[in-house]
Amino acid sequence: MGPGTLEGILEKLPVFDCPQVLVGLNQPDDAGVYQLNAETALIQTVDFFTPVVDNPYLFGQIAATNALSDVYAMGGQPLTALNIVCFPTDCLDLEVLAQILAGGAEIVQRAGAVILGGHTVEDAEPKYGLAVTGIAHPERIITNQGARPGDLLVLTKPLGTGVIITAVKGEVLTEAEISPALASMLTLNQSASEAMQAWGVRGATDITGFGLLGHALEMAQASRCTIELWIDKIPWLPGAREMAGMGLVPAGAYANQHYLNGKLEFLGSLSEAEKDLLFDPQTSGGLLIAIAEAKVEGLVDHLKLRGETAWIIGRVCQPGDYSIRVHGV
Ligand code: CO
Ligand code: CO
Ligand code: CO
Repeated sequence: MGPGTLEGILEKLPVFDCPQVLVGLNQPDDAGVYQLNAETALIQTVDFFTPVVDNPYLFGQIAATNALSDVYAMGGQPLTALNIVCFPTDCLDLEVLAQILAGGAEIVQRAGAVILGGHTVEDAEPKYGLAVTGIAHPERIITNQGARPGDLLVLTKPLGTGVIITAVKGEVLTEAEISPALASMLTLNQSASEAMQAWGVRGATDITGFGLLGHALEMAQASRCTIELWIDKIPWLPGAREMAGMGLVPAGAYANQHYLNGKLEFLGSLSEAEKDLLFDPQTSGGLLIAIAEAKVEGLVDHLKLRGETAWIIGRVCQPGDYSIRVHGV
């Protein structure tokens, strides 16, 4: 990345050389990890964004599910959270804010964590999210460096939330018509995280703003391997391919595509809609899990027994010319 990018700016900041930092700025991952003692490491993350749906309670729920996800992606258990709020108190009813906060609190409760406080800033456009602190055993932290050649890749939620949200904003779909996407965005990655710990997974990340391919690239680079994905195995939200085919693709998908240019190859045939969905930024997406082939069926069965979804969508390979290889049909 060049000097004009966020990474370029971060590179110029002082490096915190501290043995307790297990995952920090020099090793970008879903969350930072700080070891407290031999048994416990803190996992810390923050995420907030502008409304993705009109219903303020639902927005609060989705933002909280999304914010908790980075702790789950590291194999942790969330303990505490702080609300982060931007809100135009002069032009929006305070009841809207109350609904956003109530939705967020409901999800934090569902996760078994607590909200300790928060901070609100006056802003023209509402924004909401949480700073979340969790814990895990220091030797059981799951990072994007943990994928190994030969592992299979499991994805726990279908793709397409960015395209579906764009279709609702474009008034092509109504919020009532996108219940599978809403249910997916409201599903905590908690069970998936517990399953990863039960099966000794070491490599995973959650799929959010960089899309499946952007987050797969982070994993491939951190693990020094090539990731191979199989287009006919990738799950899509109902209507996502149709909406992408109509061009209802968010700007973020094109930014992701631009970023991945030269780092991936497409083999065989893929539709433009499918390609767009591979770059589609996800809100509260699922986990991408790398697991040894011998254990993958056990993990998938474990998830399905708990009512979760899981698809084997590719594998981890020795490093090749490109960090990612997508096989079409
Ligand atoms: Co993440
Ligand atoms: Co995040
Ligand atoms: Co304050």
